[in-house]
Amino acid sequence: MTVANALPHDDAANWLLARTAYRPTVGIIAGSGLGELADGVAHPEVFPYADIPHFPTSTVAGHAGQLVLGLLAGVPVCLMRGRVHFYEGYSMQEITLPVRVMARLGVRTCIVTNAAGGINPDFEVGDIMVIQDHINLPGLAGHNPLRGPNDDRLGPRFPDMSNAYSPTLRRLAHQVAGELGLALREGVYVMVAGPNYETPAELRYLRLIGADAVGMSTVPEVLVARHSGMRVLGLSLITNKVIFTPRDTDEPLELHQEVLDVGARRAKDLQRLVVGVVERLQEPSVDQNR
Ligand code: HPA
Repeated sequence: MTVANALPHDDAANWLLARTAYRPTVGIIAGSGLGELADGVAHPEVFPYADIPHFPTSTVAGHAGQLVLGLLAGVPVCLMRGRVHFYEGYSMQEITLPVRVMARLGVRTCIVTNAAGGINPDFEVGDIMVIQDHINLPGLAGHNPLRGPNDDRLGPRFPDMSNAYSPTLRRLAHQVAGELGLALREGVYVMVAGPNYETPAELRYLRLIGADAVGMSTVPEVLVARHSGMRVLGLSLITNKVIFTPRDTDEPLELHQEVLDVGARRAKDLQRLVVGVVERLQEPSVDQNR
């Protein structure tokens, strides 16, 4: 079934296309504390989310809310400095509108970053994990941005997720990390709805079902990117090690500040990795059209 014309993301894309000469082929989503990724963008043109028609605006510290168009390693990119989350009260469709806009601008490759809690006991704070696969807990419970009538112009009704995270881009990330001397993990990201952090019992459950890292974002954007036919690379920065047994104290944990601090400390390495990957996307061996 198809739905009516004049979609919100068309409005937003047309608004942008009328204001920039950039035609980005790579989209980058900078997660919690990782907005610094935008500092590497040359000749930036910056659009606050609040100015772009229909764009959701972030309500969380650490998420600036700007769309930055410019050049990264000579490649035209569209970078989201900050994202919005389901827990902020937006619908799954609203939080993924920027990805639909990217698709309309011509983006074919999407690099998604996030801050995540380390569930795999081998992971350390500051580690970077290439997302190999995900578990969509809100999605399994019905919160999915692809729910509702499918617009066949945008993508298929039943998109395949058997290789949601591009094997080519994952290999490339490991190659670039090796050249930069950066250690890189790989694992499964589980999305929880948040906004509360998980209980120890929930974390033991997440470990049992095969998750290596946990966070409150990324998966909806990846679903829409894949639905739109983009290739996806997902990178998680491990900002904390999760706790599997209840703490024996009434003192609260201050996790959000820790998440932002680790982001600030590791942003440069993540930026080098992303720039290295974008640079290599131009190589014929990394066929951009899949
Ligand atoms: N849980 C959920 N989301 C997160 C975490 C966490 O421990 N760390 C960073 N984002």
